[in-house]
Amino acid sequence: MSPQPLGDQERLDKIFEALDRMNELAATHTVLVEGVKDIAALKNSGVEAQFYCVQSGGGPVRAAEALWKSGRSAVILTDWDRRGNSLAEDLRANLSSLGVRFDEEIRSDLAFLCRPYAKDVESLDSVILRLQKQILEEQRGNRMRGKIVVIEGIDGSGKSTACSRLGEILSERGFSIVVTAEPTHERIGALIRSGSIPGISQATEALLFAADRSDHTEAMERWAEEGKVVICDRYFASTVAYQSSGLDGSEVDRDWLLSINRRFADRPDLTILLDLDPEVSLARVSARGEGESKFEKLGFLGRVREEYLRLAEEFGFTVIDASGSPESVAREVAAKVEEVLRCIRRKRYSARRAAS
Ligand code: TYD
Repeated sequence: MSPQPLGDQERLDKIFEALDRMNELAATHTVLVEGVKDIAALKNSGVEAQFYCVQSGGGPVRAAEALWKSGRSAVILTDWDRRGNSLAEDLRANLSSLGVRFDEEIRSDLAFLCRPYAKDVESLDSVILRLQKQILEEQRGNRMRGKIVVIEGIDGSGKSTACSRLGEILSERGFSIVVTAEPTHERIGALIRSGSIPGISQATEALLFAADRSDHTEAMERWAEEGKVVICDRYFASTVAYQSSGLDGSEVDRDWLLSINRRFADRPDLTILLDLDPEVSLARVSARGEGESKFEKLGFLGRVREEYLRLAEEFGFTVIDASGSPESVAREVAAKVEEVLRCIRRKRYSARRAAS
């Protein structure tokens, strides 16, 4: 019986498995590549390791000597064309003669997995991108559901930047994206934002936020059904965290806030909390030259933060330290989201296989 050809999803999963193995070896192994473009492609694909360019480093003899001196092992990762194969052979001979241990399995796995699309390491990231696009097109064809991702955090925690950068990063990866926010700019959301109902209590405001959310959730579900990844800036946790934290002394009962939001709690596929000390977040807000809103008082935001962390425990949010630069936080957020997108795809793939 001839083996089944690999599907795109299985091929991609196996590529990621090989890269994961490389990351696991990174503490003790140096990755031997041909040139700097290979390093860029590996870094783009999520590999964080020590690299050595065999070409600019003086060839296989020098490479083997350098490893022998440093006492590290090697991952041989030359291209899988004729030149790359003979270079791998030379490396193997030189490393063996000096007693340096090396891994060749990762190279042969990647060669097998990438061969239909590319014969060199420098194309690795574009192979991954291409497979992701093909999978997405197939999912769209099958009307696969997209995902709802929520980003939460106190004012000044960098949510808006993280949401828009996340949108850009996922678009580049071939995903179809909707970036949205609460309160919305639609009917009830616009009413809340206009501030045209002065003097309303926090409880009434919580009901308005929930009413806005009800319409918004229907729209988000529709987008997800169309196969889109929906990125939402604030969701039900904002109401629980903000309206229970005693702004102007008028805190609302937490259990009641949870009860009016019960039907929203399991809608997101992933909620990320950007956690930040309010002292830092307020400094950011004032550096932006924005006037402090009533929500932006230090003590109040401290309580909001505590409540967010409690909700994160209860509802399994992913907590990310938001004290880094906006770009590094956005990258960390994107990595978490991609993990979930990938892992859900993996589950679907296994379910499909089990059913067939
Ligand atoms: P924010 O995300 O700062 O929106 P923008 O930057 O577009 O003005 O949200 C506005 C404020 O609304 C914010 O301080 C938190 C508050 N808020 C609540 O108190 N409860 C809620 O349910 C939501 C969604 C927001």
